[in-house]
Amino acid sequence: MISINVYPLPAYAQNEDLANSVAVVIDVLRATTVIVSAFAGGAKNVIPMLDIEQARQQKEILEKIHGKDSVLLGGERKGVPIAGFDLGNSPQHFVSEKISGKILILTTTNGTVAIHAAKNARCLYVAGLVNAQAVVERLKNEEKIAIFCAGTDGNVTEEDLLLAGCLVSRLSHCSQQNQKPCQWNHHAERAKLLWENQFFIDNKEIVSETKLIELLRQCRGGKNLVSLKLDADIAVAAKIDSINLVPEIRL
Ligand code: MLT
Repeated sequence: MISINVYPLPAYAQNEDLANSVAVVIDVLRATTVIVSAFAGGAKNVIPMLDIEQARQQKEILEKIHGKDSVLLGGERKGVPIAGFDLGNSPQHFVSEKISGKILILTTTNGTVAIHAAKNARCLYVAGLVNAQAVVERLKNEEKIAIFCAGTDGNVTEEDLLLAGCLVSRLSHCSQQNQKPCQWNHHAERAKLLWENQFFIDNKEIVSETKLIELLRQCRGGKNLVSLKLDADIAVAAKIDSINLVPEIRL
């Protein structure tokens, strides 16, 4: 039996829910899209941190071990880059010219907090729309899956639920094909319906990136980015299944 639980915010999950689970953390706009993009750009490692000062200290420590210029600081507060950091939180900036071979220390308002909330899971992966199918392939033989949505400032966000729904929908399809029974919680059911109502025609998934961008723009995180004139980040985050890798975070 495969069991999938979706938590619309990290606070919905109890510690015992995590025991033996594989956790997947989602912050489509933008932290987890950035982490996937950083690995795709050749980052050696990504270290999510909660606090700006601790991130700076960690950089000093790691540069003593790995050498100067081996570590980059990235992230945001209120959506904008942090003073003195090397990079903000725009996925398209995490390209190989900047990030290849580097260790990235990332601190963001919600995404890196959600990753820390899931740290007691047996295994912790990071998902964006950009690597959705790769995540499904990684998870399809797991038995207990916990999907953590980061939300925004303690509020549930639809962009994270959409991706959660995409994962549940695709995983339930795999379980049918493999004739393995699958059960999911109420939040997973709602997320699955959210996704399938938008992207299913005659029982078949057909995803339009244009529609995905439109939907993301209307979500809480999307509205924030539009108000900051960071629309380009939404378009990058909507490139579904464009990256074939699954970052695993060890804290
Ligand atoms: C976060 O972690 O809070 C987000 O990724 C916010 C953002 O990118 O602006």
